[in-house]
This record gives sequence, C-alpha cells and structure tokens, in this order.
Amino acid sequence: MRHFEGLTGPKGLVFLGASCLVFLLVQCGSSSDEDPPHPAKDMGAAGVDLANASRQYTMKCSVCHGEDGAPVLASAPDLRTSTLSVEECVAIIAYGKGTMPPHRDMLDMATIRGIAVYIEKFRN
Ligand code: HEC
Repeated sequence: MRHFEGLTGPKGLVFLGASCLVFLLVQCGSSSDEDPPHPAKDMGAAGVDLANASRQYTMKCSVCHGEDGAPVLASAPDLRTSTLSVEECVAIIAYGKGTMPPHRDMLDMATIRGIAVYIEKFRN
C-alpha cells in the first residue's frame, strides 16, 4: 500500500479527471465546422472501394502526382485543378497519356474507376 501513495493518491486522481474533462470539452467544441455533405458526389462514388483506391493511388500514382494531387514530377498535371471527367480519367489511367504509363495491366477496371473517383476529391 505504501508505495502507491505518491502516484495514485486522491489528489493525483482528481487532477487526472479534471484534465480529461477539459480535453473532452475542447474536442466537442470543434465539431461544428465539418464539411457539408455532397449528395451528388457521394452517389457517384456508390459501389466504389475508396479505401482500396487510396492505397493503390499511394503506391502507383503518388510518385508522380503527389499524395494529394500536387505534382511531384514537374511534367505531371496538378490533379487538384484538373477539369477532366471521371470517364476521361479512367481512360488516361488505363491507357496512359504522353509520358504517363498505362495501368490496365496492373489494375482491374473496378480499381481504376475507384481511383478516378478518388482523385476527383482532390479538387475541393
Ligand atoms: C511516371 C509518372 C506518372 C505516374 C506513375 C502516373 N502519372 Fe498520371 N500523368 C503523368 C503525366 C506526365 C501526365 C500528363 C500526360 C500528358 O498530358 O501528356 C499525367 C496525366 C494524368 C491525368 C490527366 C490530368 C489532366 O488534367 O490532364 C490523370 C487524371 C492522371 N495522370 C492520373 C494518374 C493516376 C490515377 C495514376 C496512378 C494510377 C497516375 N496518373 C500515374 C505522370 C504519371
């Protein structure tokens, strides 16, 4: 019993409880400025595995296009300001364009489509 006194005495517990409470209050206060929902976009993404798309994008695309669409390779377009449709992106990802390599041999079409939907979200 004696060696617990310093660490977990009543004063220590009160202090811990108080700091948890402050933390929770701060967390609650900041939840009001979330993005409004985008019903149209969310419907377009129905049936798309965005978690898988994000993984594949990181592995196969981010070396040139950057983690969030901001180009790493100087000649790669900025995906945040691209104006292409999902269909056009699907075609470029599958068949390549200029110095961008085609991906249809390493990704199936469902995954390519998922990535095309995923990269549209960089535009916000
Ligand atoms: C080796 C570097 C490289 C890799 C890897 C790469 N890209 Fe590209 N990408 C480019 C380049 C360069 C262009 C410009 C092609 C052109 O217009 O000649 C481009 C163009 C594009 C475009 C057209 C954008 C626009 O507005 O014109 C999209 C969309 C795109 N890439 C998506 C992807 C996705 C998704 C992946 C992963 C599956 C990927 N890219 C992998 C280099 C790359």
